[in-house]
Amino acid sequence: MIQRICTLCAIVLTFSACMSGAGLTEVPATEVKAEYSVFTDDGPSLREAADARGLNFGVAVIPGRFRQPLYGGTLIGNFNSMTAENVMKWQTIHPERNRYDFSEADQIIDFAAENGMTVRGHTIIWHNQLAKWVTDTQWSRDELIEVMREHIFAVAGRYKGKILAWDVVNEAIDGSNYRKSLFYNVIGPEYIAMAFRMAHEADPQARLYYNDYGVSGLGAKSDAMYAMVKELLDDGVPIHGVGLQTHMSMQWDFSYDSMRRNMARFVDLGLKVDLTEVDVRMELPVTNEKLAEQADRYKRLMETCLEFPTCDTFIIWGLSDSASWIEYTFNGMGSATIFDTHYQPKPAFFGVREALVNGPPARDGDPDAPVVQRRAVPPFIASEAAEVPVLDGAAGEDEWGGGIVYPLGFNQLSPRDLRDTGSVAGTWTAVYKGNTLYGLLTREDDITYTGDRSSWENDTLEVFFDMNGTFVQLRTLIGQDFQAVSYEGPARAVWSDDGRVCEFSVVLPDTGLANMLCGWNIALSDNDGSGRTAQLYPVNGINDSYTGVNLGSLKFEGTSPRPPEAARITYPFKAAARAGITVDGNWSAAEWGNTVSYPFLFNQLNPDNLCPPVDDADLSGGWGIAWDGITLYGYVHRRDDITYTGAADSWENDCVEVFIDAAGTFAQHRIPAGKDWEDMPSAGVRTAAWS
Ligand code: XIL
Repeated sequence: MIQRICTLCAIVLTFSACMSGAGLTEVPATEVKAEYSVFTDDGPSLREAADARGLNFGVAVIPGRFRQPLYGGTLIGNFNSMTAENVMKWQTIHPERNRYDFSEADQIIDFAAENGMTVRGHTIIWHNQLAKWVTDTQWSRDELIEVMREHIFAVAGRYKGKILAWDVVNEAIDGSNYRKSLFYNVIGPEYIAMAFRMAHEADPQARLYYNDYGVSGLGAKSDAMYAMVKELLDDGVPIHGVGLQTHMSMQWDFSYDSMRRNMARFVDLGLKVDLTEVDVRMELPVTNEKLAEQADRYKRLMETCLEFPTCDTFIIWGLSDSASWIEYTFNGMGSATIFDTHYQPKPAFFGVREALVNGPPARDGDPDAPVVQRRAVPPFIASEAAEVPVLDGAAGEDEWGGGIVYPLGFNQLSPRDLRDTGSVAGTWTAVYKGNTLYGLLTREDDITYTGDRSSWENDTLEVFFDMNGTFVQLRTLIGQDFQAVSYEGPARAVWSDDGRVCEFSVVLPDTGLANMLCGWNIALSDNDGSGRTAQLYPVNGINDSYTGVNLGSLKFEGTSPRPPEAARITYPFKAAARAGITVDGNWSAAEWGNTVSYPFLFNQLNPDNLCPPVDDADLSGGWGIAWDGITLYGYVHRRDDITYTGAADSWENDCVEVFIDAAGTFAQHRIPAGKDWEDMPSAGVRTAAWS
C-alpha cells in the first residue's frame, strides 16, 4: 500500500533544545513590581516552579482587587493563570436580556495579557448565579435554546482566542442523575450537548470542559459524569476535558488513589482532567496540626495532578484566606487557601511548592501505581463476522479473514522496556456476531506451564470487558476451557493441541453489539516453571484491568467499511537507528533502511468507526521515523487526489502534524502540504522537504 504513494514529505527535527531539561533555574524570574511587597524567599516562586512544569497554575480572582498591592503582587508573583471567581457568571455578565456587562471580565482578560497569564473562563451554563430575567420567565423550549445561544455567542464570542479553556457546563449532575435545573426542565438533557456545540462554534480554539464538584474520586457521581461525557464523546460533541472542582474539607478523609483511578479513566477516554477549584477548608480555629495536614493535602493533590500529563491546569479557589468564599459559605469553616489573611505563605504554600519542584513521587515497583506517561489510544476494532467462527482450535483464514490482527506488544512484567516480550509472543483478533464476541489468539511459547496453584500465575489468556458498567473477566489456562473470574455468562475457549492457537467466544450482556464501544483488554501470560516472567497486553500502561478500571476500548464496527486489510499497529512506535538521511523529498529504501512503515489507521473525523475513507484516493498514507542520536527524521507517504492548502485556519488544510512530548516538553509541529514547517512554538531546529 505504501509503495503506491504519490506524494512524499521528509521531515527533520532537532531535539537538543527540548531535551536539555526543564531545570527551574533556566526559567526567568517573574518580575514583581516594586510597590508590591510580597513574600519571596530563596526558593522559586510558585509561578516559576509551575512554568518549569508547563502547568497552568491558576487562582480564582476578584478583579476589583487587582490594584491592591498585596493582592496584585501575590497574584502575578505566584500564578501564571487565573479564572473568574464570579464575574463571568451569567448574573454579572448578562444581567438583562439585552444588556451585557463585560467590564470586570474584561479586566481579567487585560490583566492576564499584561502579566503573561492564561485565563480559564468560568462558567457559561450553570443553575446558580443565573440572572433573574432567565429564572423568572416561563420559556418555551425553543426560546430557552435561543437565549442560551445568544448568551454563549456573546460571551464566548467576545473572548474568542483569549480563553484557554471554558467551563462550559457547570454542575449538571445532582447525585447520580441529571440535575433538574431550569435548562434540564425546559430543554431536556440535550442542553448540555447543545451548549458545547455552540461554545465550540463561538470559540473554536478554546478547550471545552464539563466541571463539577464531588467527582474527584471514584463514586456514584463520578460514574454518572463518566457515563455522561462518554455519551457526549460518542455523539461527537466537542468536549475536551472534565474539571474536578476539588473543594476539600478536612473533616472528611480523602483517597488520592481513588482520585488517581478516577482521573485515569477520563484520560483513557482521551479527555483532559483539570483540578479547577481546589481549596482545603478546616474547622476553625486554626491550629498548627491542622495547617500541617492541610499542607500535606495540597501537596498530594498537586502530585496527583502532576502524575497526569493531561492534567495541565491546577486552580486554587481564592488567592488568600481574606479572599476565599469559605467563611461566608460554610459555617465555622475557614483557612482554606495557601496564603493567610496577610498574604503570607501558609505551610500549604510550601506543600504545593515541594510538589511542583519535585514532581510526583516515583512509584517503581508499586503494582497499583499509575503509569506516568499514560496515553489515550484509539479503540481497537472488532468487525462483524461474515460467518460464525467454528471454535476448534484451527484458525481458518476465511473464518477470521475480516478481523484485524493486533500484536500483544507490551510486557507489563518488563518495566524497564515494555517492548521486551521475553519468551512469549502473540497476536489477537476480535470479531462479533449478534451479541457474541469471537476471539482468536495466536501464541508462540516453547514451554507450556500450568502447574501453579494460583491460576493467574500460569500460562494463561485473560480477557476483560466493561459493558456499560458491567465488568467481566475471564481466564483460560492453555489447553483448557474458560474459568469465569467475574462472569457467569456463556463463554468457551478451545485450544489447538500444540497450544499455539486459541479460539474463544463470549456472549456479552448486551443485545446487539453493532456500533457499541466497550472497555477492553486482553492479556497473555507466561510462566516457564519459576514464576511469571511475562504478561503481554496490546496497550501499554494498563495493568489494572483486573480491578475493572483503566481498560482500553474495543469498538464493534457496525455495517460500515472495514479498515485496510491486515493492517497492524504496534505501540510504542519505533524510531529506527539510522544515519545519513537527507531531507530532500526523495524517499529511497536504501536511505531509510530498516525504518518501520506504519499506516495511518484511524480517521478521527469519521467518529462512527474511525476508519479511513473507503476510497484510497481520498486520503491514505504511511509514515516512519528514524533517529541518529541527535535528530529525529521522519517521512510521510501521502496518497491524496486533491491537494488543498487554501483554508485560512492552517490546521484545516492538507497537512502533516507531529506532536512530541520530550521529557515533559510538549510541542506541536505542522507542515502544510508542499510547504515548509509552519511557524509554531518549538524548541528545535526543523527542516522539511516534499517531493
Ligand atoms: C462561588 C464563589 O466563590 C462565591 O463567591 C459565590 O458567592 C458563589 O460561588 N462551585 C463553582 C464556583 O463552580 O463557581 C463557586 O464559586 C463555588 C462552587
